[in-house]
Amino acid sequence: MSVLYKSESDRGRAWQALFADHAPDIGFHLWPEMGDPAAIRYLAAWAPAADIFAALPNLEVLFSIGAGVDQLDLSQVPQSVAVVRMVEAGLTEGMVEYAVFATLALHRRVIDYISDQRQGRWQPARLVPPAKRRVGVMGLGVLGQAVLARLSAFGFPLLGWSRTPHTIAGVDCYAGREQLPDFLAQCDILICLLPLTPETRGILCRETFDQLPEGAGLINAGRGGHLIESDLLDALDGGRLAGAVLDVLNSEPPPATHPFWRHPKILLTPHVASMTTADTGGQALLDNIRRHQAGIPMQGLIRRDLGY
Ligand code: NDP
Ligand code: OXD
Repeated sequence: MSVLYKSESDRGRAWQALFADHAPDIGFHLWPEMGDPAAIRYLAAWAPAADIFAALPNLEVLFSIGAGVDQLDLSQVPQSVAVVRMVEAGLTEGMVEYAVFATLALHRRVIDYISDQRQGRWQPARLVPPAKRRVGVMGLGVLGQAVLARLSAFGFPLLGWSRTPHTIAGVDCYAGREQLPDFLAQCDILICLLPLTPETRGILCRETFDQLPEGAGLINAGRGGHLIESDLLDALDGGRLAGAVLDVLNSEPPPATHPFWRHPKILLTPHVASMTTADTGGQALLDNIRRHQAGIPMQGLIRRDLGY
């Protein structure tokens, strides 16, 4: 029985070494080497081409190398193959760090000060105490909850929004489209940590921005497909939003002429909020394979009908 790994090669070599040390009963192959294709039960990949499934007749589980599965064409993955997204401590910690950085950047007006510095302007703004800056997270999954837990240390009033109802200590929780307006009306900083699905595509749009308090800030570390880019430009240029920190875009990298590159109210990062790590990621994969072998539910098993 073996795993086929098809992604970034340094991480693949680290995971291969981990399996050799801790799971010698499981073969670990780095694409394009795959040994006997009939022995491959597990495929760990980002976005494998559809024809790979015909080559792996006994595949049981497709593990996404990332937390998202929107890069996969699920209609091409045989129904007999379970699809699992990545849940691992390193990936979670990376996102927590990014969300804290981005929240503080908006809270302390760092985007404005970068722009001021470039123009030789010394223009201090009044400080807003954290107790008066409400932070709302869209998506109360593994990442959203971890982010909220860390943000609580700063004293921001916290809100969260998800598909199904949640109860989280210290977080005012909302669920479903019908409660979205109440949630949005209280978010001085809005953080998107949703998966990209047909339900969430384009959710960061004019209608959403219009429901936020005047001068709110936006952080998108979900997917570029969540954001209607022209609506964001209108909201920033019209003063409805004060700034945006964006880690993900529709087209990565954006074309050289894209207005986000030089927009004075946008801080762009190149899809680096978080990454599956060489260390804890391999252990998470192995733990999930052991669960699968033992008939225990795997962490991060996705529901195809929901797309996440
Ligand atoms: P989870 O699956 O654990 O959580 C998803 C959350 O989104 C859940 O709370 C879910 O609600 C909520 N949700 C899903 N659909 C809807 C909807 N229609 N309306 C309201 N809420 C909804 O995912 P993770 O937290 O692990 O990851 C979230 C996303 O972060 C990934 O899918 C990926 O796109 C992005 N990501 C980005 C990275 C980057 O570097 N920029 C790195 C890693 C991830 P419920 O709880 O009710 O099911
Ligand atoms: C992920 C990502 O989904 O890196 O893990 O975006």
